[in-house]
Amino acid sequence: METNVTKRRDNKKALRVKVISLGDAEVGKSCIIKRYCEKRFVPKYLATIGIDYGVTKVQVRDREIKVNIFDMAGHPFFYEVRNEFYKDSQGVVLVYDVGARDSFQALDGWLGEMKQEMGSQANMDTIVFIVCANKVDLTKRRVVDEGEGRLWAESRGFHYFETSAQSGEGVSDMFQAFFSAITDMCENGGRRPAVPEVSVGFTKEQADTVRRIRNSKDSWDMLGVKPGAAREEVNKAYRKLAVLLHPDKCVAPGSEDAFKAVVNARTSLLKNIK
Ligand code: GTP
Ligand code: MG
Repeated sequence: METNVTKRRDNKKALRVKVISLGDAEVGKSCIIKRYCEKRFVPKYLATIGIDYGVTKVQVRDREIKVNIFDMAGHPFFYEVRNEFYKDSQGVVLVYDVGARDSFQALDGWLGEMKQEMGSQANMDTIVFIVCANKVDLTKRRVVDEGEGRLWAESRGFHYFETSAQSGEGVSDMFQAFFSAITDMCENGGRRPAVPEVSVGFTKEQADTVRRIRNSKDSWDMLGVKPGAAREEVNKAYRKLAVLLHPDKCVAPGSEDAFKAVVNARTSLLKNIK
């Protein structure tokens, strides 16, 4: 008996993905996308009006990916236009300007706006987030350092890249890592591959504590006790923080400085408590 042997095609089907850009106005979202897709930089600021849409094709391993890019306007005025576009995204490029602290502090607000539109945290967990610390070419005006940015991103399980749309630094590497993580996620049944605590080597509690210490207004606040607290209370709070942040145990960026700051805060408070 004769058999017809048909050659099986091993090519995987092309993936279609939707990605969006988020972040304050003027941080460089459109320029980063333009640098990647058109290999050029436009120094003049042309605010995005509502949304810009573009399509690009990329290759990740043996897979062709068709990427639909929705570049959002950062200005609050466009909220009504933006909020239609959050749903069904597989990836988010979250951008801030390293020379504008406000734009870094606004990242939580952007996540909040998105979560509100997505309906729940569970829906956010099936999206790949990549944080771009942009405009690193402007070294003299930089106010948010790498440790701080990386800490914010990695403690949430997000990827972190330093980029300059002006020079191109980091932009291709960032998009490559981004599309590769999205492909992994799609091939993993829509679950975001676990990044956080195991691979970054520190816990969210440690990361949050470092950030809280950095932003504390005085020594009482740093130790998390009320002004005028008793000696024993100060020591108790100190011991808790020391265990959490001790350099032998904690590798969260900035933890060494935070640990030293806590030691100094305790010393100065105890000097003044009878
Ligand atoms: P909206 O569309 O209003 O939300 O702003 P955006 O985030 O898309 O900003 P855009 O990409 O339009 O860039 C804002 C300004 O920053 C422009 O004048 C850009 O030329 C400039 N810019 C963007 N990226 C960089 C960068 O990496 N380095 C420098 N030096 N300037 C940049
Ligand atoms: Mg724009």
